[in-house]
Amino acid sequence: RSKRPAGAPDRKLARPVTKVGVVGAGLMAGQLALLFARQLKVPVVLTDIDQARVDKGVGYVHGEVDKLLAKKRISADAANRTKALVSGSVSKEAFADADFVIEAVFEELGVKKQVFAELEAVVTEDCILATNTSSLSVTAMAEDLQHPERLVGFHFFNPVAVMPLLEIVRAPRTADAVLATAFELAKSLKKTGVLVKDAAAFVVNRILLRLMGEVTAAFDEGTPADVADGALKPMGLPMSPFTLLAMVGLPVAQHVQESLNAAFGDRFPVSANLHKLIDNGVKGLWETGPDGSAA
Ligand code: CAA
Repeated sequence: RSKRPAGAPDRKLARPVTKVGVVGAGLMAGQLALLFARQLKVPVVLTDIDQARVDKGVGYVHGEVDKLLAKKRISADAANRTKALVSGSVSKEAFADADFVIEAVFEELGVKKQVFAELEAVVTEDCILATNTSSLSVTAMAEDLQHPERLVGFHFFNPVAVMPLLEIVRAPRTADAVLATAFELAKSLKKTGVLVKDAAAFVVNRILLRLMGEVTAAFDEGTPADVADGALKPMGLPMSPFTLLAMVGLPVAQHVQESLNAAFGDRFPVSANLHKLIDNGVKGLWETGPDGSAA
């Protein structure tokens, strides 16, 4: 019998999850929809603010399933079943019979709170709400909820299909049954769920951002991008820091830096250059010096 993860309540308290909702149809949301459909084998519905975004999200899932099929990682039957499980809607009414709804919308507290207020108007009383936030306070998100006990942090890492870790965040009022369900879900999704304190950027991004902070600082101070970035490759990192930044997305990285800076001050400086990189787009990253000149 497997040992209960540290801080996980009795698994007998866990509730069944038979339908999942994903709010947002961006890159993270699409990856989550694919994971839930593939591993849990339950219907998953994605929503976003317009039909074009919803179609793109569902299209992403179908495209990824096709890639898995082409690599012979899944059977044709499983591919068809997985695709059929994922649908999209512009209306959150589609979550009326969901047991678990996770949001992966823009990393801003106000936006997330608005989403949860809209969700509470349509979901059942027992429906669990989860946030995939990478740096914001889950406690703050729960503040205005009618049922704060149903909110839990459920933070995945990019690329979701291959990163094994899942940070599970308990807010002060999160119910034991909700937390137990989160741990059981993590197991069903074949992820390692770990309980982390509701502190800015939790644990993983705190560590990662120290590294990112130093690399962007070296770049800010004039070290060319290819040196600041390339020098780290031989140290055994699975991916160069700037490639990782580009994958996570500079706006997300900036939000995480800002959250950590607000919480811990100078230990986490916000790179002035990150703004420039965002303005210039990721593409010019390797050709541009910190002053905007060719490196
Ligand atoms: N989607 C799906 N699968 C992917 C993928 C993607 N985007 N990228 C790679 N993979 C799969 C590949 O298909 C391959 O699987 P198969 O063996 O089945 O074909 C497997 O991963 C290994 O890939 P590769 O051999 O091509 O490359 P690799 O050995 O360099 O591994 C990696 C790729 C696992 C992504 C590795 O580079 C890595 O671990 N990078 C660091 C990622 C990381 O630190 N993520 C955390 C980001 S922070 C974050 O997300 C938090 C936040 O809140 C901001």
